Amino acid sequence: MTTQQRNTGIDDERPTVLDAEAADKFIEHLSMHDREIQRHRLAIYDRMRGACPVGRSVEHGGFYALSTYHDVYDAAHAPERFSSFPVTIPPFGNPVPMIPIEADPPGHANYRALVGQRFSPKRVEEMDAEIRSLVNELLDNIEGRREVDLAKEVAVQLPLSVILELFLGVPKQDRDKMYELAVRMLQPDPDDSDEQKHEKAGAAGMGLMTYFAELLMNLRENGHGEDLISDLDQAHVEGVKLTDEEILGFCLLLVPAGFDTTASAIGRMLQLFATNPQIRQAVKERIEDSQALDVAIEELIRYISPVPGLARTVTEPCEFAGQTLEQGDRLLLLWPSANRDPEEFDAPNEFVADRKPNRHVGFGSGIHRCLGAHVARKEIKVLLEEMFRRDIPEYRLHPEKPPVWHTGDTWGVKSLPVIFESWS
Ligand code: HEM
Repeated sequence: MTTQQRNTGIDDERPTVLDAEAADKFIEHLSMHDREIQRHRLAIYDRMRGACPVGRSVEHGGFYALSTYHDVYDAAHAPERFSSFPVTIPPFGNPVPMIPIEADPPGHANYRALVGQRFSPKRVEEMDAEIRSLVNELLDNIEGRREVDLAKEVAVQLPLSVILELFLGVPKQDRDKMYELAVRMLQPDPDDSDEQKHEKAGAAGMGLMTYFAELLMNLRENGHGEDLISDLDQAHVEGVKLTDEEILGFCLLLVPAGFDTTASAIGRMLQLFATNPQIRQAVKERIEDSQALDVAIEELIRYISPVPGLARTVTEPCEFAGQTLEQGDRLLLLWPSANRDPEEFDAPNEFVADRKPNRHVGFGSGIHRCLGAHVARKEIKVLLEEMFRRDIPEYRLHPEKPPVWHTGDTWGVKSLPVIFESWS
């Protein structure tokens, strides 16, 4: 395997150098839980799009992986043919389906309508002051310090607080416990077997569900509040109340969807600022121009694409992307590969802060497109605004403590020790 040049790290979001034979071996063993595949991901996707757009992996019971923008987009827009249950490969082993991400039509639309308002741009904008206050608390904590772990102290904390406190009404003192459970569910040890991953993630999922079941009982006994769980408990779908299983399915999804995705996006963005100062500068220059900043944030999502792949299950025999598929076959939609497809994006491996149009699929596409996209955008925007308005100094990766990545259904850094140059 040729692994020189850029292969010292995976920290600058650029393709590594990989020969065809090595890339093909990785494709045959493709998995979202493999550190080496994570490291070489962009080179592997280049190879797939060029030589075998629909890859076949023998891992996790076998599945097809879609790599081109065109195929990923089409598959995401065919929910009747491709079911979203279960939405990961291998499945989490969650005790109840996660709603709405693992729901199919026609039921899916009802669930989505039920919570859509909560995630609308207007409602998210109303959260500006609360999000800003959370951000400033985090930035106050790091101010003046030479050495900081930006993943642990910023990237993880912000989305965790937003989803647990602002959406789900989880008391502050339970945050650490929820974080531990979420990490055990979402970031399995890549060295574990599928059975072990399934068992451990399932146990953590059960822990989360038990916690939410108690919270729900508590709300029923002591009165509903302003939180999303209270909304769900009082909501009706076509005149029928949601079952406890459906309410808990929502909660179970919102922790991984709301926290892990955004933590990964923010962590990798902060890392990118250390490894690519010109990207940091391009973003910083747009800080006083809200629209230009929004455009740059979309490009960050395209470039980073923190969700490496989500799954579909074939519901009926069909032909797709030149492949004969049988009922029950599993597909993996590689969003980051689609987002680097030169057929859709000029200079796909360049960060272009004012890229327009930018029809990236970092937030998915079709009926399951990300419900929390406005929340994620808002968290990132407020963080950038507050960071740059404070004029926080440049920082570099810690020379002795490299970033620690996690694999799983989002790819991010769980530790990002940096050294700040000088605080004025
Ligand atoms: C940068 C951060 C984020 C990224 C990259 C991201 C990515 C995605 C992707 C790719 C999907 C599509 C799933 C599919 O097609 O199977 C999705 C769906 C979803 N996301 Fe996000 N997400 C992010 C943040 C959030 C946040 C903050 C929340 C909640 C507050 C959230 C809630 C959801 C929900 C509920 C769905 C399911 C929608 C449905 O099935 O109709 N996401 N997200």
